[in-house]
Amino acid sequence: MKSSAIAHSNIALIKYWGRSRDHDSNLNIPSNDSVSMTKLGLSDDIHLQTRTTIDFSDIYEKDTAILEGEVLTGRMMERILRVVNPLRKIVNIDYKFKMISKNDFPTQAGLASSASGFAALAIAAVDALGIDFSKEEISTIARLGSGSAARSIHGGFVYWYKGNSHETSFARQICGLDEFDMSAVIAIIHEGKKDVTSDVGHESAYTSPFDRVRISKSQEQAKDIEKAILDGDFSEVGKISEENSKYMHAVMMTSNPPLFYWHPSTLKLIKSIQKIRESLECYFTVDAGPNVHCLCRHENTYELQKMLEEMEYVDKTIIVRPADDSHVTKEHLF
Ligand code: DP6
Repeated sequence: MKSSAIAHSNIALIKYWGRSRDHDSNLNIPSNDSVSMTKLGLSDDIHLQTRTTIDFSDIYEKDTAILEGEVLTGRMMERILRVVNPLRKIVNIDYKFKMISKNDFPTQAGLASSASGFAALAIAAVDALGIDFSKEEISTIARLGSGSAARSIHGGFVYWYKGNSHETSFARQICGLDEFDMSAVIAIIHEGKKDVTSDVGHESAYTSPFDRVRISKSQEQAKDIEKAILDGDFSEVGKISEENSKYMHAVMMTSNPPLFYWHPSTLKLIKSIQKIRESLECYFTVDAGPNVHCLCRHENTYELQKMLEEMEYVDKTIIVRPADDSHVTKEHLF
């Protein structure tokens, strides 16, 4: 019972920040709907994807999960079991598993490694156990490992309904990778691991006095951005994404304890993007880390990349295009 999957990471245009306090926090039911672009890195060695192989068998004495050669324990193993255990229950088997997973990009550098990781795990585990689930159902399983992973099941542009139960909190595709003209250049200014993971950050979002406002604004913005995507209106999508990213960072900075994910260079870059915008239309969005995604039209990616690479505080850049659906592959890792 072995299967492998390749899943892409995604960049949130409307952010998920904070879990609903009306539900068990282990369910990762968010406070608001969110919207993302599933992304494919265009550099030679970085496609921003995770490949995962999982095998269920009676030859294993215990569950083992290995990420980048490291045996996972503690919180990470707990999150993996949260994905796998409900699936084992559905098919009523108690076989143990071995899982190996590899990212082709730095883990936990604000490039959303858990999104692709848990999406790949959910797809591979559902396939290995022969469960007949729709993509929406697989997205609910991925969500149990990492909220944003729910969106990475689909390619192109994706909407995650917050829902009000495990079954109703799922992601679906807004449109495919060729149906809306948007790319991004990621400006990497720091690749190290972040001090506070999103997993921990979600728990303190509600302590910010601005959290309520962000939630209700994000709900409106998710609907508005979906419409703008379907209308092919890049300017509107860019503007809404930028606003929404600022709302999230305002909440982070004013939570207790406060979270400052920006580095001084993040702000420098944001100011530069505002300047670049006078001649080339682009917008910024920043996740839970210091790196900046600059959103632009396909035709402008290389010119924008050149401008960003000239900045002394930008270490490197990665061009990303919308990716296709995450999927099962026959190439196993063991
Ligand atoms: C800021 O809990 O999905 O990227 O810690 O990687 O599992 P992991 O992330 P997750 O939170 C994502 C937070 C965000 C915004 C977003 O992707 O919506």
